[in-house]
Amino acid sequence: MDIARTPSTADGNPQLADAPPEPKEPAIIRREDYAPFAWLVPTTHLDFDLGLERTTVVATLQVERNPAADPSPTIRLNGDGLTLESLSVDGAEHAGWTMEGDDLLITLPGDAHQLQITTIIDPSANSALMGLFASNGMLCTQCEAEGFRRITFFPDRPDVLSSYTVRMEASKADFPILLANGNEVETGDAEGAEDGEERHYAVWQDPWLKPSYLFALVAGDLVARRDSFTTMNGREVDLAVWVRDGDLDRTEHAMESLKTSMKWDEETFGREYDLDIYNIVAVSDFNMGAMENKGLNVFNTKYVLADQDTATDGDFDAVEGVIAHEYFHNWSGNRITCRDWFQLSLKEGFTVLRDQLFSQDMQGEAVKRIEDVRILRGIQFPEDSGPLAHPIRPDSYREISNFYTSTVYNKGAEVIRMMRVMAGEAAFRAGCDLYFDRHDGEAASCEDFVKAMEDGTGLDLAQFRLWYRQAGTPKVEVSLEHEGDTATLKLTQTVPPTPGQPAKLPMPIPLKIALLDRETGQHSGEQLVMLDAPSKTLRFDGFAKAPVLSINRGFTAPVSIERTVPRDDLVFLAAHDDDSFARYEAMQELMVGVLLDAVNGTGDAQAGRQAVATALRAILTDEALDDSMRGELMLMPSQTYLMEQMLTAQPGAIHAEREALKAYLGRELAAELHALYERAEAVPFGMSQEARGARKVKTQVLIYAAASDPAKAAELAAQQYAAADNMTDRQGALMVLCGLEGPERDAALADFYERYRGNPLVIDKWFALQAGSLHPDVIAHVKALADHPDFTLRNPNRVRSLYMAFAASPHAFHSESGAGYSMIADLILALDPINPQTAARFVSPLGRWRRMEPGRAALMRAELERIAAADSLSRDTYEQVSRSLG
Ligand code: TRP
Ligand code: ZN
Repeated sequence: MDIARTPSTADGNPQLADAPPEPKEPAIIRREDYAPFAWLVPTTHLDFDLGLERTTVVATLQVERNPAADPSPTIRLNGDGLTLESLSVDGAEHAGWTMEGDDLLITLPGDAHQLQITTIIDPSANSALMGLFASNGMLCTQCEAEGFRRITFFPDRPDVLSSYTVRMEASKADFPILLANGNEVETGDAEGAEDGEERHYAVWQDPWLKPSYLFALVAGDLVARRDSFTTMNGREVDLAVWVRDGDLDRTEHAMESLKTSMKWDEETFGREYDLDIYNIVAVSDFNMGAMENKGLNVFNTKYVLADQDTATDGDFDAVEGVIAHEYFHNWSGNRITCRDWFQLSLKEGFTVLRDQLFSQDMQGEAVKRIEDVRILRGIQFPEDSGPLAHPIRPDSYREISNFYTSTVYNKGAEVIRMMRVMAGEAAFRAGCDLYFDRHDGEAASCEDFVKAMEDGTGLDLAQFRLWYRQAGTPKVEVSLEHEGDTATLKLTQTVPPTPGQPAKLPMPIPLKIALLDRETGQHSGEQLVMLDAPSKTLRFDGFAKAPVLSINRGFTAPVSIERTVPRDDLVFLAAHDDDSFARYEAMQELMVGVLLDAVNGTGDAQAGRQAVATALRAILTDEALDDSMRGELMLMPSQTYLMEQMLTAQPGAIHAEREALKAYLGRELAAELHALYERAEAVPFGMSQEARGARKVKTQVLIYAAASDPAKAAELAAQQYAAADNMTDRQGALMVLCGLEGPERDAALADFYERYRGNPLVIDKWFALQAGSLHPDVIAHVKALADHPDFTLRNPNRVRSLYMAFAASPHAFHSESGAGYSMIADLILALDPINPQTAARFVSPLGRWRRMEPGRAALMRAELERIAAADSLSRDTYEQVSRSLG
């Protein structure tokens, strides 16, 4: 029966009226409004008749009243752009239904019913890549956060857990592989189509209850790398990494990473895998990194495919980290899921912490910690000081996709890391065990996590809960005074106002500190200081001479430390601090101070530069340092980080001074840099820490040379490019060449393109290197690349490789003419109708306008207003633009 156009209720079915225009103001969803769902859905049967252009979905749901909720005779099934083909209740036609917007509301007479709902969808038209979509001839799903409602009508909320059985039927030739969550329980031939096409089917069953966002299916012509893993209790798990034919030889690292993750989670968190199958599928069109669907992870190819010729050391690490992240979600996310989407950090913050700790163990603790802090400060701190700032547990949203943020993920991880620091590792593990134990099988809240931590560790976390409620990066002002035998440390905190939160309470801030003897660099032990009041004064006796303060060692708290320290102390710490992070930090602080003085015309510029040269020379020649760490210590603070340190950012001056300092250091330390390069160049390719470190410092040297002696740098980089037997060297050289003028640049770019034509992930690099380069004509380059035959708005990786690389590059994006701003606004307007989730991610660079000098601020604001004035904006983009205009 076709009831799509049949009114069913006397009071008028909204489907009869002309479709109302999209409301300009999408509704605000509030955390405080949470209420449990009135119905339970113990079982869900999904029957898919799969086709690229037409897929029929028959969903059969057992529903019963939820005794724990306010009773309602009406069940609300969410939909998003769906047309109801047919509906039956308990096997019979049912008149009691109505549409409310996109949702289907069914009134049910009794306590338990069976609903059967048919919908028809067109995966090939799904450019938003949410729900069921087509990618390179295959079909796959993405349901988090609210994609399931684009497949069928369902209570699409994470607290409704159901047992799923999925039947897929499809053309044998086009979709030889059929996968879904859990275990395959039946396969066979299906009746052929009228045109004689052979068809087959498979039935999969997931033994675990799950929310709809963890549902997944994949159908396509795929091949697998197979392996197996035996769990700590002897369960044999079949592992498979599914890719397109031809990509198999680039899956070894992904498979190794999976096995190491499984082992590590057993050893470190006592967590064991709970199915007989673990499938990973790589797709090239994907909005994010990867998705943790139960037993069937779907991955962006970027985080699966890697080999020496096509992936950098950083890419290898990213594959390992994302494979681990999705695997760890099996416990922190799937076994224990979220009560509602405001609790997102419950699974994401915790899982990011877990993947960071794993990668620290794999790649080395010091360097990994520095990289994670760089991401936090480069992305999360700006978010926290701008119009989109929100607590790790937000209070409201219009579109949940906009809250998959660095705040929820990375600051969320820092908040849990602080609890680990305060409790100590053993007690933290006990808290985690209690949490897993207590809430297994539930949809939990951040509060549940904190309570389990309290009960498991013995900590009192009453005040600590503020970290979940308050947005903004706390500032800690630090001063150390010395008199007689006593050093007096004064700490004062302020939490800045953020949108909707004008006044803040003081937070508990755990800071690891040490007081170093300024002759020997020795100290008598680290201590953990809790700054839990607006300010605190601590006295340390027994210091005949003023010690040098090392603070926030290991970056124990996600705060910004503000202090005035003599430059010599920073030079001293950069050379002597025994905490690697603090050493890196001293170097950054030193360079930031010198660069900001240069921009503001304050301080003694020459003395400052000399101090940096002294510190950098010590780092270049320190034989006790390994090159991976040396590479970190050599890094200049990014333009973005420098802008963040200014009340009103002046991107032009920052860029110029940063280049000038690089040029000075390149000239001043030419001999040391050259010697380092020669030594590193002699190290043969390998994946050892030593070989990786050698590759890292080589490119660092080229970066300094590019500023001090461009001709020489072009020659060296061209040579490195030509000699490279791996992507790290090749990409590093090409990156440096991209910022320079001359024939070497064009030759290398042409060679790279020809060499990797047809390999989308590497062609993404080719776009990104040009779009993110230091070349003065970047804007023109990006304009030209947008017209390149390989450019498309339909592939998120390609869009990001061109435009994110550009927008993250302040000297180009903030070009005085405003051309960078209008380019990004044009992109948002063009992309929004195609892929709103990805389009909305480009709003935040324009949202920084309040922090810019007045000329640029006005240009940025004007572009935001131009976007806001567009006829029909997605909920995603609307929300980000309106918050940004604020
Ligand atoms: N939960 C996923 C992760 O963090 C990410 C994710 C959320 C996602 N929404 C998505 C991935 C939409 C792809 C598309 O691991
Ligand atoms: Zn995640």
